[in-house]
Amino acid sequence: MPKKKKEISRREFLSSSAYAALGMASLPLMKSESLWGKTVERKINIALVGTGVRGSSTWGKTLIEEYSDVLEMVGLCDINPKRMEYARRYMGATCPIFADFKQMIKETKPDTVIVTTTDCFHAKYICLAMEMGCDVITEKPLATDEKMCQEILDTEKTTGKKLTVTFNYRFSPEAEKIKEILMSKEIGEITSVDFNYYLDIYHGASYFRRWHGFKQFSGSLLVHKATHHFDLMNWWLSAEPVEVNAYGELRKYGHNGSFRSARCMSCPYKEKCEYFWDITTNEHYMNLYVKAESEDGYLRDACVFRKKINIWDTMNVQVQYHNRVTMSYSLNAFMPYEGYFVGFNGTKGRLDARVYHSQPWKVENMADFRITHNFGQSKTFGISSEGSGHWGADQVMQDRIFRNPGPDLLGQGAGSRDGALSILIGIAARRSIEQERPLKIEELVML
Ligand SMILES: NC(=O)c1ccc[n+]([C@@H]2O[C@H](COP(=O)([O-])OP(=O)(O)OC[C@H]3O[C@@H](n4cnc5c(N)ncnc54)[C@H](O)[C@@H]3O)[C@@H](O)[C@H]2O)c1
Repeated sequence: MPKKKKEISRREFLSSSAYAALGMASLPLMKSESLWGKTVERKINIALVGTGVRGSSTWGKTLIEEYSDVLEMVGLCDINPKRMEYARRYMGATCPIFADFKQMIKETKPDTVIVTTTDCFHAKYICLAMEMGCDVITEKPLATDEKMCQEILDTEKTTGKKLTVTFNYRFSPEAEKIKEILMSKEIGEITSVDFNYYLDIYHGASYFRRWHGFKQFSGSLLVHKATHHFDLMNWWLSAEPVEVNAYGELRKYGHNGSFRSARCMSCPYKEKCEYFWDITTNEHYMNLYVKAESEDGYLRDACVFRKKINIWDTMNVQVQYHNRVTMSYSLNAFMPYEGYFVGFNGTKGRLDARVYHSQPWKVENMADFRITHNFGQSKTFGISSEGSGHWGADQVMQDRIFRNPGPDLLGQGAGSRDGALSILIGIAARRSIEQERPLKIEELVML
């Protein structure tokens, strides 16, 4: 589908929902002005660290192709020179590449640094960039442990620089619809929430093939993946978490396999392994990863049954919020379908949403909703999405960051506090599982 068409339908969605409900149309785009950043009279100079799949596509190729009128890519940095060289060509960038981050900042003098490295290095680059005078846009998760989180919060305060966390899930159509319904108070005050997230045997398994399978890199799926879900819940509820209790098990991947190898490409069990994944059929991945292996030894198609995998695939978390709302959350990573159920219990009724991301049957909508009023009627409706890039969310979020489409009526812009509060639920859950006790958020970080 041509990009223009998607763009229009997504913007139409926004203007027909929250914006229209509040009687405001979105403003025309204004060149060189960022909604979350300050107004600048020239193009914003951007440097990017971490030229993997996310960095080179969403924050590389897309920015260069779609936003060159308002920004300029001035430098790229990565520890893997082969990957970085390929990524530069793939993006269509002409800027210099650097192995040394500080050198890149000194030589290219960016206004803003985009951080898209492996999760455990976000904090290092966020802090360095702010200390060297740059604003920062970082991919989720903000950081992978409480010490890094504190360092980021402190550095932002002392440098006065601006940090944006790119929670693209806030911009997906169903998440916006849930926010609008809760803001309308149709089901009264929220008292508790049931939130069940399912990763399927394809996408879920992919985390166990990559660096994500190790707590030391990803902080576990409770941080790497659930940061999205905890952020959504904090944002939906306009609430801050206070206490967390969690359970976690590794029941399918890692040591549970009855056979294993180093990687799929050379695996002797190709024919019988249900999780066999053929990276050689993907030219982009071959260039980005396999042809760059000689530099860092990273295997993108590593075995999901490696014994060293130390994250969980089966997780349950209870969260208590400052306003007495409680959430019961689960994340399972080897399900036959992907998506989520969320149910909000309110003083006047209940909102149920079933969101479909992938499943082995046909669905009419991307999300089905039911609102049931206490002592009253129940109504249902569905919503759909035509967009690509996380259901169009990436594009709408980038318009918000780099252009000025109007006021942020749903409060979708996210900063360091949002980034911190979402990872702190995951970090507290991880510590709760490790220490077999509930944890207070205030035990981890001074917010
Ligand atoms: N919001 C979303 O929907 C979304 C989707 C995918 C990924 N992400 C995030 O984007 C980030 C990148 O993920 P990815 O899938 O592209 O991973 P990836 O493994 O493809 O890329 C990571 C890159 O970081 C580089 N790197 C690792 N350590 C480094 C260091 N110390 N200094 C400089 N570079 C270093 C690697 O060489 C690699 O090129 C992650 O933080 C991930 O959570 C977000």
